[in-house]
Amino acid sequence: MVDLDMKMTEEKEGATTFLMCQDAERIYDASVFYNPKMTFNRDLTILILSSIISDSSNALTFLDPFAGTGVRSYRILNELPSGLIKRVIASDRNPMAIEMIKRNIEKNKLEDRLEVIHSDAFEIIAKSIETKTQADVIDIDPFGSPILFLEIAIRALQKNEGFLFITATDLQVLCGKFSEACFRIYNAIPTRYYLCHEVALRILIYNLLISAGRLGVAIDPVFSYNHEHFLRVKVKIVESKEKANEQHKDIGFVHFCTDCSYVKYYRIRDEIRYSNCPICMKKLEKAGPLWLGNLYNRKYIEIMKSELENFDFSTGKQIRKLLDNIIEEIDSPPFFYFIPYILRSCKKQGITLLQLIESLQQKGFIVSRTVFNPEGLKTNASYADIVDAIKMY
Ligand SMILES: C[S@@+](CC[C@H](N)C(=O)[O-])C[C@H]1O[C@@H](n2cnc3c(N)ncnc32)[C@H](O)[C@@H]1O
Ligand SMILES: [Zn+2]
Repeated sequence: MVDLDMKMTEEKEGATTFLMCQDAERIYDASVFYNPKMTFNRDLTILILSSIISDSSNALTFLDPFAGTGVRSYRILNELPSGLIKRVIASDRNPMAIEMIKRNIEKNKLEDRLEVIHSDAFEIIAKSIETKTQADVIDIDPFGSPILFLEIAIRALQKNEGFLFITATDLQVLCGKFSEACFRIYNAIPTRYYLCHEVALRILIYNLLISAGRLGVAIDPVFSYNHEHFLRVKVKIVESKEKANEQHKDIGFVHFCTDCSYVKYYRIRDEIRYSNCPICMKKLEKAGPLWLGNLYNRKYIEIMKSELENFDFSTGKQIRKLLDNIIEEIDSPPFFYFIPYILRSCKKQGITLLQLIESLQQKGFIVSRTVFNPEGLKTNASYADIVDAIKMY
């Protein structure tokens, strides 16, 4: 056993001070895992919980089965109004993590509200089903892929129509560096090109949809984003076979050209007519199956935006920017055009994204920038419409 006392340091995240154990150069070698870069992820967890709470009449039970230092759990209890979180259960399979959480419970005086359990994640989620102590929110935050835990977590949330939060850090797989592994793990073809992050999120949601559909439930994507080395998806579980049947129609593929940025997506049941780019004849890049529906729920995003000022997050500015950008693109169709490629294909230079947005807006198209790429444009205008708009300059 490592002597935790020898290596304790005090950290602060949000409004919470806690102890952690810094006993290795690399965070992955530490006795208990803590990544300060994930503060953005944890700040957003608190903010979205705050928006869920303000939309619901019941206090919530939060299950944190990959707790690490437990920082997410005690931040939730410290930073959200008391009485709105009924119970938090933090568990981890690492005994030193459990010891660390216990010390932090004592430090933050959370003995009555935070339960800590030494357990494998799968077992603690399964136990919550068996003992009928279902959680309202489960946060799946493992190393790498969350895939093995999706189905059991959906089962555990089914009765309460709860919320499932998942983090994926296996971006090399989901963003196409290891595409065979992606096909094996997620049964989908990823891409390494400019659409990679949006495709990766949509592959992840497609997998949630498949697991949920098998259990006869639907999902409502509430908030999805990529940040640095991770993807995060938050969905609400909805008990409705009809909705599940309906949303399975929104599984499909995207085909796009890595030369001129032509892009076409289609539902899995529809026939695709060509595999070469109709603009430049290059073989199209194909990705999927993936989710073609919405990535966000406007109601929760709006509440998150208005709740943000109640918190003192070090990542507050970044969060506001992300929420503003999401609201800008929330009604746009999936995927985006990468404007430098279209300009190159039209042999045009010096036209700004803003100019193009204004031209297409004037013609009545839905058009926005995208969180996925600063030079990307989301629109329901066709490729030909965009070329026409470019040629006006
Ligand atoms: C990425 S860290 C979690 C970080 C934490 N959620 C936070 O915000 O700081 C993953 C944690 O999950 C634990 N873990 C990995 N696989 C597990 C499993 N199958 N069951 C329980 N814990 C597991 C590891 O010990 C590690 O503490
Ligand atoms: Zn092309």
